[in-house]
Amino acid sequence: MKPLVASACAKIILLGEHAVVYRQPAIAIPLSTLRAYATRQPSDTPVIVLQEERITPSNATHPLITLLNLVCEFIQQPLPPIAIHVDSQIPIASGLGSGAAIATAIARLICAHYNVTLPQASLNNLIYETEKIFHSTPSGIDNTVIVYEKPILFVKGAPVEFVDKFQPFKLLIANTGITAPTYESVSDVRRLYERSPEEYSTIFAEIGSLVTQGLACMQRGDWQTLGALMTRNHALLQTLTVSCAELDALVEAALANGAWGAKLSGGGRGGNMIVLAPEAQIESMTQALYAAGAVHVMQVEVGEHDHHTA
Ligand code: PMV
Repeated sequence: MKPLVASACAKIILLGEHAVVYRQPAIAIPLSTLRAYATRQPSDTPVIVLQEERITPSNATHPLITLLNLVCEFIQQPLPPIAIHVDSQIPIASGLGSGAAIATAIARLICAHYNVTLPQASLNNLIYETEKIFHSTPSGIDNTVIVYEKPILFVKGAPVEFVDKFQPFKLLIANTGITAPTYESVSDVRRLYERSPEEYSTIFAEIGSLVTQGLACMQRGDWQTLGALMTRNHALLQTLTVSCAELDALVEAALANGAWGAKLSGGGRGGNMIVLAPEAQIESMTQALYAAGAVHVMQVEVGEHDHHTA
């Protein structure tokens, strides 16, 4: 059996997480060099090998087995008698889309195994089905940015809109080292919203308006204003109770060290935060973030040739 590998990228949310669940727009960006890989290896029966775990079809309720079944049903093929080894560089439960990336890499490997080219829209739908099992009410932003691997302006239920005409820029991504399940923060926001729908709809609408303004800033290269929008977005996420002391400490350190703006990214309560800062500040900012408790800081170049360095 010839070696076969498939992969999928990580992602960050620049602006608009949580409010996106309530149909406000959000901007997401792929991280093309931080990836999850799925590798085909010989086996008599289908199995997914994830870290120490061997997941077989008898484990019918496992989200990755559901994915395996969905993909094979869709392409009208039997479950493949192969071992799918998953190897991911993406920290889990950290707002970087690890779950959707692993699912996408596996689905791509199954298609490659059968020599089937799946339209991206179909793959996106299949991954969204798996996301629903992980997160219960996902907006679909993670699977969409990861499957298409392009910056997107995402609105739940609307056709995907790519953000392709903007000035390239650099971001710093700092990890708190704390893992936090997105479904918990999403459920807590849902409870708040159900208690006071008007109050929280106003917050979601303000976040949506930051996103629209942020898109215009990206297009005209207005980083100072984009930064201010990010910082305001962080304050609104604090009101939604999805920040935490560690994320706030990193945001404060970034702002105290000359950042244009900073915010948490993703589900929150841990995971990663992002910083927009002038080029000259990037090195000292990286040190400041480590000093404020970050366990890892990455530089990402966002633009036509997205890449990042650790
Ligand atoms: O998977 P995460 O942690 O990047 O969060 C996804 C973004 C949320 O808006 C919090 C949830 C969603 O489904 O859009």
